[in-house]
Amino acid sequence: MDIGIERIGFYTPNSYIDIVELAKARGQEPDKFTIGIGQDKQAVPAIYEDAVTMAAESADQILDDSNKKDIGLVIVGTESSVDESKASALFLMDLLDLPENVRAFEIKEACYGATAGLQMAYNFVSTNPGKKALVVASDIARYGINTPGEVTQGAGSVAMLISSTPQILKLENKSAYMSRNVGDFWRPTFSKTAFARGKFSNQIYIEFFETLWKRYQKEFDVTADDFKAMLYHIPYTKMGTKAMRTLEGKISDEKYAQLQAEYKYSIQYGREVGNLYTGSLYLGLLSYLINSAVTPGDELLLFSYGSGAVGELYSAKVCENFKQYIHVKNVQSLLNNRKKISISEYESIFSQSVRDGESVDPSVVTGEFYLSEIKENERLYKTKQ
Ligand code: CAA
Repeated sequence: MDIGIERIGFYTPNSYIDIVELAKARGQEPDKFTIGIGQDKQAVPAIYEDAVTMAAESADQILDDSNKKDIGLVIVGTESSVDESKASALFLMDLLDLPENVRAFEIKEACYGATAGLQMAYNFVSTNPGKKALVVASDIARYGINTPGEVTQGAGSVAMLISSTPQILKLENKSAYMSRNVGDFWRPTFSKTAFARGKFSNQIYIEFFETLWKRYQKEFDVTADDFKAMLYHIPYTKMGTKAMRTLEGKISDEKYAQLQAEYKYSIQYGREVGNLYTGSLYLGLLSYLINSAVTPGDELLLFSYGSGAVGELYSAKVCENFKQYIHVKNVQSLLNNRKKISISEYESIFSQSVRDGESVDPSVVTGEFYLSEIKENERLYKTKQ
């Protein structure tokens, strides 16, 4: 039985900042941010947006009355949780009017959460072939104003419907994974911004990729030549380049050049949006499927990394009519119709939040779903009429 991604949806907030303007405001060389880090724009969420509203936006694009009734599992992977107890998946079910006969919960392990969800969804569908699983990655990546991590912020979500009728990508159930307790990145419960040992996190990311690639080749008897592309978790687009460099000299120059060329397609949207944390790998996948010349049957290798740290390397095969099932125009118009805001506007939004007892004026909402108010410390969400 085939199992994999049947539909994929993407959302990013309507506002963004220009990375060159950010560099100038922080007294940095623009080339450091555009070349050294590899970013062009950074998404800025509105105060009424969070992991729940963004998850609803991306999931709404891929659901209809006929596939909703078959869903038996709803997982939100996020490290931007809105509640220490209640799962984002429950708010999501309400906003999307999903049936009650599902298992719904949230998974947290930094940027690995959605991959954990995807693998769990694979197992769920393999034992329940008539059912589908909704896996949504949704995050706001925040390090703080004027921190080294600021240039690697971003926001957005990617929703995937996993089923036994994959139309976009077949998951091959070939996977190498590892976990280790590492202090490279963390966000204590009291803090809205993350703490990172930036250079150390790069080092662990690369070490995990190298270890898993060795293990993967041995276990599944493959070489780089078996893959059309290698897609990476991209907290910033230079990061995947660094991991790929570990292959230089170990594979043929021709294959290395080809993988580098393919990688460029996978980072096109990441450059425009920034870090999606757990959605980054899957935005890279979407970017690759839309912008490259990949063809049905091509094999892809995906590297997922979540600080803390968990890594997983797994393969997937492109489906026959995959392009028909991706809403390419939606993705492009979402990215093209955004509004650029100034660095001072971004700084002002950064410091604001909806507080207990406050509500949001729906006329300022640009999307479909929003945090409408906080009442008795409970977050209440609405769909824009
Ligand atoms: N022109 C071109 N390139 C330039 C340049 C210029 N004028 N000036 C500097 N650069 C290059 C540097 O040479 C460097 O390149 P290399 O990495 O290839 O050596 C690059 O720009 C960045 O320069 P620095 O290392 O000096 O930058 P920094 O000290 O400001 O820190 C960072 C960069 C560590 C990524 C920081 O932004 C950070 O801490 N980010 C958050 C942590 C992170 O994203 N880690 C990634 C792995 S962890 C993960 O993936 C989980 C997750 O999602 C968070």
